[in-house]
Amino acid sequence: MKLAVLFGGRSTEHAVSCVSAYCIISNLDKEKYDIEMIGITQDGHWLPYHGNPEKLKDGTWEEEACTENHFTRPAQSTCCLDAGLRVLQSCEAVLPVLHGLNGEDGTVQGLLELLNVPYVGCNVFASAAGMDKVYAKVLFADAGIPQCKHIVAYRKTILQDAAAYDTQVAEKLGYPCFVKPSNSGSSVGVRKAKTPQELHEALVDAARYDRKILIEEFVDGREIECAVLGLDDAEAAVPGEIVPSKEFYDYEDKYQSGSSYSVIPAEIPQEALTKIQAYALKAFAAIDGTGLSRVDFFYKKDGTILLNEINTLPGFTDISMYSKLWKNCGLSYSALLDRLIDLAFKRKEEHERCCHE
Ligand SMILES: Nc1ncnc2c1ncn2[C@@H]1O[C@H](COP(=O)(O)OP(=O)(O)O)[C@@H](O)[C@H]1O
Ligand SMILES: [Mg+2]
Repeated sequence: MKLAVLFGGRSTEHAVSCVSAYCIISNLDKEKYDIEMIGITQDGHWLPYHGNPEKLKDGTWEEEACTENHFTRPAQSTCCLDAGLRVLQSCEAVLPVLHGLNGEDGTVQGLLELLNVPYVGCNVFASAAGMDKVYAKVLFADAGIPQCKHIVAYRKTILQDAAAYDTQVAEKLGYPCFVKPSNSGSSVGVRKAKTPQELHEALVDAARYDRKILIEEFVDGREIECAVLGLDDAEAAVPGEIVPSKEFYDYEDKYQSGSSYSVIPAEIPQEALTKIQAYALKAFAAIDGTGLSRVDFFYKKDGTILLNEINTLPGFTDISMYSKLWKNCGLSYSALLDRLIDLAFKRKEEHERCCHE
């Protein structure tokens, strides 16, 4: 099968995506798949790449891909997709290994729908809903899934007066609180604020990344993650715990320092594990998810479970939780990828059935 792997992208998670793609390519069964790599540069150019996948790890693929495609900067157009699209159209399926904006948010999924090619993961709506933390919360609340208290703040208001939300925060959330851009990932723009001064700084910083900002109450809890796989009959793996090495699980801790660690299965009561699996499936259904998602929770000392967020294209590096959670359930990384690709075809079949009935 000719399979396109899309990686890189314009988001703040560009580098993570390249490492995820490298790990996926290493684990794909080469007997089954003829892999076509398409790298998306940080400035949005799509470059087919036939070099060594190892070069995805340190970013050196890009220079080689530019040469391969006779691509020179300054670019002829702001965003050149042509060469990439031609390759995509020649493939039987696509694995978009893209995190964050312009990849995990429904934009690329929309393009793949238009190209009429099966692709791994969530559809346009689920990707967009899962990416936008503010709107995901609306759907989760409607599904009756417990979450922490929050306030929505807007860039325009913040830039006029960073103290505009002080009263609401003091009355509804208290300190410390968490500030995060609504559309973000890998903890980029996420800050813990212990004072109004820190809140103001965090809001201004988060406003660099998004128009809508979430301010949440601080949850003193363990971080439990649950992997979901499937379509309407999706299954949830036994959850695992992430133990951050720092005050919270920030970008450096996720990908650089290597000092945070995971415990699989999470060492919490069986009853809590089962509840988390049920909530994870509910959250997946709430955004109308298909294929895969990793659903993240907080587990408090008193046993309270709160949903934190859903990731429709979770990290796939070799230290990433998603594949490790399935491995623990007896599904190897390679078998997991086979399953995801198979689901891409099943979803397309179902979609076509609705369109033609
Ligand atoms: N309300 C909160 N209370 C305590 N810690 C939080 C809260 N929100 C986020 N965090 C910490 O920040 C990290 C990143 O936040 P998260 O919402 O998961 O954003 P991202 O999409 O960037 O992963 C979490 O893994 C957790 O460590
Ligand atoms: Mg997270």
